[in-house]
Amino acid sequence: MIETITELESLRERIRGWKREGLRVGFVPTMGNLHAGHYSLVALARQYADKIVSSVFVNPTQFGPNEDFTRYPRTPDADTSGLQSAGCDVLWLPDVAAMYPFGVELAASIRVPGVSAVLEGAHRPGHFDGVCTVVGRLFNQVQPDVAVFGKKDYQQLAVIRQMVADLHVPIRIVGGDIVREANGLAMSSRNQYLSADERMVSSIIHHTLHAMRDGLLVGLPLAQVEADADAALRDAGFVPDYTVVRRPDLTEPADGEAGNLVALIAARLGRTRLIDNLEFQLA
Ligand code: PAJ
Repeated sequence: MIETITELESLRERIRGWKREGLRVGFVPTMGNLHAGHYSLVALARQYADKIVSSVFVNPTQFGPNEDFTRYPRTPDADTSGLQSAGCDVLWLPDVAAMYPFGVELAASIRVPGVSAVLEGAHRPGHFDGVCTVVGRLFNQVQPDVAVFGKKDYQQLAVIRQMVADLHVPIRIVGGDIVREANGLAMSSRNQYLSADERMVSSIIHHTLHAMRDGLLVGLPLAQVEADADAALRDAGFVPDYTVVRRPDLTEPADGEAGNLVALIAARLGRTRLIDNLEFQLA
């Protein structure tokens, strides 16, 4: 049976017990409204650890003032049973006071310069400060051996890796592959904001990522590939924030680069903002 814990002292006691037994602890942080993408991370964590903790916490500090914090979907009962089926041992379910004991305004925060500033960071100022601030707390609360993050949020994974390296956090970070709907749309808690028509159109993001990769593979210039992707999305009714190809460190345009690359898209469809990416190799 999965155990739901809401008090930090109880969480620490459970984890101390596991560690005394020599068990390895894996951790999957989430904001709830869980889907197959989240559950795949729990399954991946099980490959690295004996006991799995998942957290569900809709973190106020990573939402901008005009973003969807209040309407973010909250489905605790479905999340609990889904986590149980996925093989999670403990659901860590703190409230805002447990996460931010001195209040959100007085919260000590973690900022990772560089990789936090581009792409998502440029379009959602302060977003990654909020992510690092809460993930830093979650790491100190759970003290896992391994933590798993999805490549769906490719830049978030890069920011967390940088934070862990820079602050000497003794936790192994593992990235899990993107889980998609049948039409190619990357699974996301925000997909339920989409109307039926928008859901049909949404698969174009995935097609566009493939077109970007294929364009570079046949030798088109980066600027053209990125501009074509922007135009294709606009034609389909999206308002793109960016359509880019980068090296895995994300900070510089990948002009004339070969090796491991990643195409990244963020675009609004109606009132829903979608992000997706595709890793590939260029010879
Ligand atoms: P959330 O959006 O709930 O995502 C939790 C984890 O699930 C993240 O690591 C995310 O990359 C991963 N994920 C989401 N959709 C996925 C998909 N389709 N395939 C694979 N993995 C997927 O990301 C957050 O929450 C928060 O920022 C958090 C890290 C919990 C900090 O608040």
